[in-house]
Amino acid sequence: MRVATFSAKPYDEQSLRAANDEAGHEMVFLESRLSAKTAALAAGCEAVCAFVNDDLGAETLTALTGHGVRLIALRSAGFNHVDLVTAARLGLTVARVPGYSPHAVAEHCAGLILTLNRKIHRAFNRVRENNFSLTGLLGFDLYGKTVGVIGTGKIGVCFVRIMAGFGCRVLATDPYPSEEARRAGAEYVPLDTLLAESHIVTLHCPLGPDTHHLIDRERIARMRDGVMLVNTSRGALVDTAAVIQGLKSGKIGYLGLDVYEEEADLFFEDLSDQLPRDEVFSRLLTFPNVLITGHQAFFTAEALHNIATTTISNITAFERDGTPLHEVIAEPVS
Ligand code: NAI
Repeated sequence: MRVATFSAKPYDEQSLRAANDEAGHEMVFLESRLSAKTAALAAGCEAVCAFVNDDLGAETLTALTGHGVRLIALRSAGFNHVDLVTAARLGLTVARVPGYSPHAVAEHCAGLILTLNRKIHRAFNRVRENNFSLTGLLGFDLYGKTVGVIGTGKIGVCFVRIMAGFGCRVLATDPYPSEEARRAGAEYVPLDTLLAESHIVTLHCPLGPDTHHLIDRERIARMRDGVMLVNTSRGALVDTAAVIQGLKSGKIGYLGLDVYEEEADLFFEDLSDQLPRDEVFSRLLTFPNVLITGHQAFFTAEALHNIATTTISNITAFERDGTPLHEVIAEPVS
């Protein structure tokens, strides 16, 4: 099958080529991000392989269908960026890669927490300048602290296990509580209790209409003073303007982000030669207690390998019998 792979970086190309060795699909690698304007690059391809910041809205999907595309093979677990209703109407099949490495994201989240708490990023810079002063680097013991986990799916459970290992009390909330999370040490409580009691609040739920701006002004107000807020899931789970207010007032003592509401125009590119394009993002960077990584929580060798092999398996299964291994189905509109 001929596959147009959008937003392809050298590491994507390498892992997909290796995974495709036996399957033998004709992979076309494109640096461009997918949008209605670039959809024509997929002309002659039956499948499109897309990543998290590609535009898979109605206009793009309609254009892709016009060019003969029948399968959208996502290289991600999340599918909030796909207009599934339009895809179903157009007869487009959508596939994803669920749980390619929950450990990668959970471990990165733990890394953000440790770095923010112990200010390792600041210590790294100081020591390189022969500045061995400890002033300003004071942290706190994670042992005995309360950590609130919003969403205990594959990543959330891994994260619960890590924090339980530090000796933390782990509170969790999820509409579908999991026995695995309980066994790992999580205690399920209502969201309001979690917000009121946690020293660290971390998001591991998907973005959807119900969770858009889940963390807003009111919910921030219910948190502990000086709380650490971490988001490695999707940017729009958090109302960034409300978070900036929380940082200014001191309500939020630490902020760790791997995702950002408006990341599509920023992340995955080297913009170091350009003027800042997003004033809200620039404002976030002015706070010494904010640590941001550019959607790299998934980025481990194991995850890339699993993403590539599952993506190729999805394409092969679709070519063979019209159904990918991991199909995403639009929820019926009630
Ligand atoms: P999952 O589907 O295994 O788990 C998500 C959990 O969230 C489910 O248990 C679900 O019931 C729960 N949930 C749904 N709505 C909720 C709500 N309102 N409150 C609390 N819990 C709720 O997904 P997985 O694999 O654990 O991934 C979680 C999210 O992590 C993905 O949706 C994606 O957005 C993000 N992600 C980020 C990556 C990164 O590189 N930063 C990489 C991979 C995923």
